[in-house]
Amino acid sequence: MTIPREIPPAAAQKPATIHPLWLRLAHWLNALAVLIMVTSGWQIYNASPLFDFDFPSTVTLGGWLGGAIQWHFAGMWLFGFNGLFYLLMNILTGRMKRKFWPLTPHGIFNDLRAALRGKLQHNDLRHYNMVQRAAYVFVMFDGIVLVLSGLVVWKSVQFPLLRELMGGYDTARYVHFLAMASLVGFAVLHLIMVAVVPKTLIAMIRGR
Ligand code: HEM
Repeated sequence: MTIPREIPPAAAQKPATIHPLWLRLAHWLNALAVLIMVTSGWQIYNASPLFDFDFPSTVTLGGWLGGAIQWHFAGMWLFGFNGLFYLLMNILTGRMKRKFWPLTPHGIFNDLRAALRGKLQHNDLRHYNMVQRAAYVFVMFDGIVLVLSGLVVWKSVQFPLLRELMGGYDTARYVHFLAMASLVGFAVLHLIMVAVVPKTLIAMIRGR
């Protein structure tokens, strides 16, 4: 006969971890790095605009070209190493597969349709729906493109293969800009979604 064991009340009540500590640290460091990189990048862009507009000085960082470059170069180490840490931890712990797989066009389409009709549930915060998976995987690739095109713009002579793959130095600038615009577009939608489901923010701060 098995004797029923009593569950200690504290353990029974403790909610399960949704986001491990390393993930939360990487996420918030990334948000800081992105803020530094984007706003200082806009100041650098203003010194030699690619298009017929520039960014208002109220949303740029660094004050002038030299100051912005210093911020951009300081931020790039944080963005690069933190991003590498996030990707490696996700791959090595098997979390990448657990959280972001499977990912199918049919599933994305279905979840997107449900979301647009206001019928997509996000009650179980441990699981991402297909639209979230697609958006997060997209922004991971976008981050890699940002770093690689940034390397070409920074040291185009030292990275000739990368430069040619990007279509040359001038095209790499456009690639870098487009990747930045995609990241900003992601961040805007991401913040709207967080505002729609605010309990996800508590989980990303406290882990539970
Ligand atoms: C202040 C700004 C930000 C806030 C408040 C925020 C908030 C959140 C929240 C609440 C989640 C969990 C979503 C859920 O459980 O449904 C999340 C996940 C995520 N966020 Fe953000 N975020 C911010 C900025 C960013 C930026 C700038 C990026 C990337 C460029 C980013 C990329 C991601 C990714 C990739 C995930 C999934 C993480 C994983 O589970 O591996 N976030 N964010």
